[in-house]
Amino acid sequence: MQEIRDRVAVVTGAASGIGLALAQRLASAGARLVLADIEGSALEAAAEALERGGAEVFARRTDVSSAESVEGLAREALNRFGSVDLLFANAGVIQAMGPTWERPVEDYEWVLGVNLWGPIHCVRSFVPRMLQTKQPAHIVITASMSGLSVVPGNGPYQISKHGAVALAETLRLELNESAIGVSCLCPGFVPTGILHAERNRPSHLRREDAPPERPLEGGWTGEPTPELEAIARAPEEIAEQVMTAVREDRFWILTHEDARARLLSRFDALLESCRPH
Ligand code: NAI
Repeated sequence: MQEIRDRVAVVTGAASGIGLALAQRLASAGARLVLADIEGSALEAAAEALERGGAEVFARRTDVSSAESVEGLAREALNRFGSVDLLFANAGVIQAMGPTWERPVEDYEWVLGVNLWGPIHCVRSFVPRMLQTKQPAHIVITASMSGLSVVPGNGPYQISKHGAVALAETLRLELNESAIGVSCLCPGFVPTGILHAERNRPSHLRREDAPPERPLEGGWTGEPTPELEAIARAPEEIAEQVMTAVREDRFWILTHEDARARLLSRFDALLESCRPH
């Protein structure tokens, strides 16, 4: 999609981090914005700041893990603007690190609910409406490098992101004959609010007796290490890369320099029938 001006763009997880940077970048390109997030106060603040900058904004508190909530978002976005041209299914959360068998069911339900069911609900609510208009449109699913490679100790998140990648790839094939473009965003480390994702865990999926974080050797510590900081990219850089990919109708958006090496290592192991390494 070449022209972003006056297009209607829905961004989930728009109150913080990559979603907020996407919203700001879209606003500077002249898009009309539908901002969705579960964190009401942060969403309001983001919407007000963008409006002060001259953007046309409709903000709606939304829980992407709920089909009803996402369907309500789609309905109200259409009522307000008459169409949706761009969809950024971006909201995401991460649990504490630990062996897959140790993390409680609630971790899986929460993380898969937001990171996998969220994009599924977005696709089910928005794609039929986009197809109806027959106008050019574009969908970006925010997955992660954790959707293409794994480390020990981050099971629920990595499982959810592999699902998000499969969703994006499937959608790309199914929409090949349509006017809808699809991209799959796979960032590496970006310093954002995701390090404090627990702030948005609903109380029914919170367990006081959950095992403490237990990072595993070779995995992520749950903290930004100096090695990660060294290769980190700012949310604004990610937003810029996404805008370029949307304009060029590019499917894969690999944002970090180490992506290629991680992928080669995975596929080498697979093709050589080695264990994951
Ligand atoms: P963030 O925490 O700064 O932003 C995520 C936003 O999602 C927050 O505003 C949060 O309130 C919202 N959210 C959480 N649960 C929600 C729900 N149920 N319904 C609606 N909104 C909800 O984190 P960040 O990093 O900007 O995350 C954005 C996406 O990028 C996520 O999908 C994440 O998995 C992905 N990602 C992030 C990376 C990083 O290193 N920060 C790396 C790779 C992918």
